[in-house]
Amino acid sequence: MAGIFAPRLLEGRAVLITGGSSGINRRIAERFAAHGAKIAVVGRDGDRAAAAAAALIAAGGEAVGISADVRDMASLETACTEATDRFGPLDIVVAGAAGNFVAPALGMSSNGFRTVVDIDLVGTFNTLRAAHAHLRKPGSAVLAISAVQAQMPTAAQAHVCAAKAGVEMLMRTLAVEWASDGIRSLAIAPGPVDGTEGMRRLAPGGQDHLARMLAGIPSGRQAGLDEIADLALFLVSGAADYINGTVIHIDGGFSNLGSRDFGALLTDAHRSAAAVEPQLA
Ligand code: COA
Repeated sequence: MAGIFAPRLLEGRAVLITGGSSGINRRIAERFAAHGAKIAVVGRDGDRAAAAAAALIAAGGEAVGISADVRDMASLETACTEATDRFGPLDIVVAGAAGNFVAPALGMSSNGFRTVVDIDLVGTFNTLRAAHAHLRKPGSAVLAISAVQAQMPTAAQAHVCAAKAGVEMLMRTLAVEWASDGIRSLAIAPGPVDGTEGMRRLAPGGQDHLARMLAGIPSGRQAGLDEIADLALFLVSGAADYINGTVIHIDGGFSNLGSRDFGALLTDAHRSAAAVEPQLA
């Protein structure tokens, strides 16, 4: 629905996006670039970040790829400085880097749990903490990518559920602390999104698996990447100027039905994978 927005809605805005090399974050980067924003694509793998930036440039945008791991505060501080030197003060930051794997709590080590919390929750804090000094004040927005797991306790997702719940409370708290700087703090909580690495991991069993998952979603389908990007565009635009400290679900009603069937699905997927290749469980 990109056509419903005024053209060049983000003309000249400086944007930094973590996890921007693929999936939801990449589509957000593409959408923002198409609306005139200058994009710093931050990724753990510098080559992939550079490739994503090159694609944005090839499509007529302005972009740079920067290598940083959101678990490493120093690398994020360097990334923010590099982005600001290139594009000026940051108008928008999207904290999108995330990690996930399917395993029951008893099938993950303390380090496995901590790894996801480190990437999803601490990584979001690190990104926004590092970016704060570089944000335009007033007039900027920071956006975290949460997930329905933040609200739905889901079997085989203890690490993600805990981490994303933390992300949502972090964003609500930053809204309280940073509103006086003129910074809006927001989050999007998608359910399943078609064509993402997350879906490849959560629904590895082909069409049967997918059909079982979709049966638990009132809208009967996954989100498209463009739908997530459009919500992000709306939220960082002036049209959402009075929305602050808010988490918006974009899940086709998924979170209204609860997570028991979804958790059973993931548990079955984990059992099948373990039967092929034994893991920790
Ligand atoms: N089941 C149980 N434990 C697992 C696991 C699985 N499927 N995959 C990883 N782990 C554990 C590892 O065993 C390790 O714990 P240990 O040291 O006690 O053995 C711990 O998690 C860290 O794994 P490692 O591979 O060293 O971490 P990493 O930093 O290289 O990778 C992940 C992080 C695990 C999140 C990895 O899946 C990743 O890089 N994901 C990025 C992409 C992604 O997840 N996208 C989906 C977003 S929704």
